[in-house]
Amino acid sequence: MSAGLIQRLCASIENRQPMHMSDLSEFIEGVAQRAFPVEEIERWLKCVHTHGISVKETTALTQGMMNSGAILDWQGPTNVADKHSTGGVGDKMSLVLAPALAACGLRIPMLAGRGLGHTGGTIDKLESIPGFNCNLSPERMKETVEKVGCCIAAQNDAIAPADGLLYAIRDVTDTVDSIPLITASIISKKAAEGLNALVLDVKCGRAAFMKTEHDAIALAKSMVATAKGLGIDTVAQITDMNEPIGSHVGNALEVLGSVRVLQGKGSNDTRNLVALQGGQLLALTGLAPTLEYGIDMVHEVLENGKALDVFIQMCVHQGTPPSIAEQLAEQPEQVLPQSNHVTTLLAPRTGYVQSIDAMALAEVARELGAGRFSMSDSINPGIGYVIETAKNQHIENGKTWISVHHDHELSSEHLNRLQNSLTIDDQQPADFQRLITIVT
Ligand code: URA
Repeated sequence: MSAGLIQRLCASIENRQPMHMSDLSEFIEGVAQRAFPVEEIERWLKCVHTHGISVKETTALTQGMMNSGAILDWQGPTNVADKHSTGGVGDKMSLVLAPALAACGLRIPMLAGRGLGHTGGTIDKLESIPGFNCNLSPERMKETVEKVGCCIAAQNDAIAPADGLLYAIRDVTDTVDSIPLITASIISKKAAEGLNALVLDVKCGRAAFMKTEHDAIALAKSMVATAKGLGIDTVAQITDMNEPIGSHVGNALEVLGSVRVLQGKGSNDTRNLVALQGGQLLALTGLAPTLEYGIDMVHEVLENGKALDVFIQMCVHQGTPPSIAEQLAEQPEQVLPQSNHVTTLLAPRTGYVQSIDAMALAEVARELGAGRFSMSDSINPGIGYVIETAKNQHIENGKTWISVHHDHELSSEHLNRLQNSLTIDDQQPADFQRLITIVT
């Protein structure tokens, strides 16, 4: 029965004719209800991947996927917001951003994912906190947001179930890298959160899925147009993903790095990126009159401890025992899992750091157990790095530039790859800027 429907849809796509909206709706409904054979769905996905579809069709697809499951609805002020990042290395922004924005007065019902490929995932990071439960029903998400101001939950089949199956099939059929399919997948889940405002962090560079500015902007334009088409005020920030973000990389280590920032300390790079994303959302929702004002508001709640208080409340509401949550706020290293060994690597010469190859670091971390190679792999939360320097900084010969947290002995091949990820030269490079451009 589905063959005729999918045949008609594919014929339209191949002939560059608009798909019939009733056919598209029937297709999405069938996918959500698991009513069609996987080969038929695969045929449609390959067709979209090869030929593309229009902005109007992408919006209709996104809307259909959003409507395939629960949609959170909110009463009261139009202050429901979220961020989505296309994935990076050391990208711990969500852990800091959600509580910081809640402390500023926004409501943040965040759905997040696990690590994908070489990139880390917010859910894997949070699960290194004892007791933290990311499996929240839509009702529990709402309740947590109403009480605490924010929650962070794993994507699940209660919300946008059509995406669950489409994504699983894309993953094994080489059809992930399609702008309309990525757009519909991400925006359908964000729209189902019932958002008023969304900021998209579209990563660009050697450790991003989008390697060039051209591709990152094309994806950003598609996502912004589609989200706006669904009534969500949206801005995309294209940011550099050549260099690792901040000082901590790895699952438990990124929780540690996030707590440091929430304590008003820690990495400036991490803090500034959180403030940029948060400032944008505060401006979009009208809580801040300008982006600059919004950025200052985020810095203030990071410095005065209000964001840390919300983070602890979120941990407790999501299952962490209160005494552990409090200890996490004060001495995170006492609570978080740690690796068996720490090996420090030294700068091979004096000079300015030209670059630290985030992709090389991520690949080695994944091989050491910080990431997965197949969905059934379990991750080792203590594995990762503390990076003691950054692009542009001066470093002396023999100083520690990175601490590698590992359980098994490091091979000489791993050591070489890590050491080669650092480039030092005599000249100080031009100022390093995370933000490349904005798409509105
Ligand atoms: N993340 C998603 O949720 N969907 C995609 O298609 C890509 C990244």
